[in-house]
Amino acid sequence: MATAKLILEGKEHELPVYVGTENEVGIDITELRNKTGAITLDSGYANTGACFSNITYIDGEKGILRYRGYPVDQLAEHAKFTEVAHLLMYGELPSLQQLLKFREELTYHSMLHEDMNKFFEGFPRGAHPMAILSAMVASLSTYYPESDERRDMIRLLAKAKTIAAFAYKKSVGQPFMYPRNELSYCGNILHMMFGVPCEAYHVDPVLEDAMHVLLILHADHEQNCSTSTVRMVGSSGANLYASISAGICALWGPLHGGANQAVIEMLQQIHSDGGDVSKYVAMAKDKTSSFRLSGFGHRVYKNFDPRAKILRKTCDNVLARLGIHDPLLDIAKKLEEIALRDEYFIERKLYPNVDFYSGIIYKAMGIPADMFTVMFALGRLPGWIAHWKELREEKPRINRPRQIYRGENVREFVPIEKRG
Ligand code: ACO
Repeated sequence: MATAKLILEGKEHELPVYVGTENEVGIDITELRNKTGAITLDSGYANTGACFSNITYIDGEKGILRYRGYPVDQLAEHAKFTEVAHLLMYGELPSLQQLLKFREELTYHSMLHEDMNKFFEGFPRGAHPMAILSAMVASLSTYYPESDERRDMIRLLAKAKTIAAFAYKKSVGQPFMYPRNELSYCGNILHMMFGVPCEAYHVDPVLEDAMHVLLILHADHEQNCSTSTVRMVGSSGANLYASISAGICALWGPLHGGANQAVIEMLQQIHSDGGDVSKYVAMAKDKTSSFRLSGFGHRVYKNFDPRAKILRKTCDNVLARLGIHDPLLDIAKKLEEIALRDEYFIERKLYPNVDFYSGIIYKAMGIPADMFTVMFALGRLPGWIAHWKELREEKPRINRPRQIYRGENVREFVPIEKRG
């Protein structure tokens, strides 16, 4: 095994080095504190490997994303979301027989316990659906407290789409639509969101295909903020529902999955402000302004985000096939064009990310902006589940980072009457 040498205060220390299957090199500092008393410091974990993983490979410099070795563009073009979910969760693309069984299980578990439907009544009008999704996912653990991890994974994947659709129905004041067994996973999402009891709902194949692509592109992204959260919470021994509920909350933030909502709001703002894209590019570059181009930049991708490339094409196709002309798409393309030619963005390697075009597609489907991140969460579920499963199989140590303390040194307690 290769080793690395660290010299601290003149003393040399040897550290093991691990090399991954794609030749990524990691210096193992597990014993560093025991040997030297020092820790490593890496704010935002930008350069810290937290685990070994067999699930997803990313090369941010080359714009590569593979699930279990399969390039994401091939999966998006040829596979359905449930096949990709099987691939991520169990390590292999399913055989026809395995796929039929997996689909059957997902169908069988897709209804919510009737008592859970009452929970939706307690949320105020206008409650953000990410809050509802997270709360309902955590609540599933009260209905399934026995630990049958294999079944919990299926249950969660099956029921999350029903929760998401019911959260939407609650927000528009319409009755819940129960899942239909003959529909696909993505077809059922559309039916439960847009169907109404008074007429038969026909799933539009254009929308169904686009939904498969969107969910597949979101399905995993190795150690991102929400997945690391799932692993962090799972490392304490917390159950699947609790761990993934925490991941949903992490995804909600505008610097992570919440960016898809922020993008559409930004495009709408530019549109209603007269469509002057250059003004917003200038604002994004202005260090005295806190404005950033939502949907631009990525911690890992420094060339292009392969998901954004696919979604730009999907976006064009969906809008053309639905006969929609959305001025926000024109603004998005103009923004991309100007930013990609601008020295500020070139220097910092800022490119459109997965969230840049996804919102325009969701909007064309009739999905409101505050549901965009919920759709992202549905897509990310197989990835979160796969990471939680992988973590459990390793029998992990509880995750517990260190810190450099910069606060006060020890001081004597001062009674209240003597404080100034
Ligand atoms: N607009 C303008 N400037 C930007 C942007 C942006 N969208 N993103 C980064 N920068 C600038 C920063 O100001 C910084 O400039 P400086 O070096 O002069 O200080 C430089 O680029 C590096 O940015 P960091 O914030 O240090 O990069 P980091 O890797 O920490 O953040 C992030 C990545 C959070 C994605 C960031 O690019 C961002 O805020 N983008 C907008 C939000 C977004 O789209 N998030 C979705 C990410 S994809 C996902 O999670 C699914």
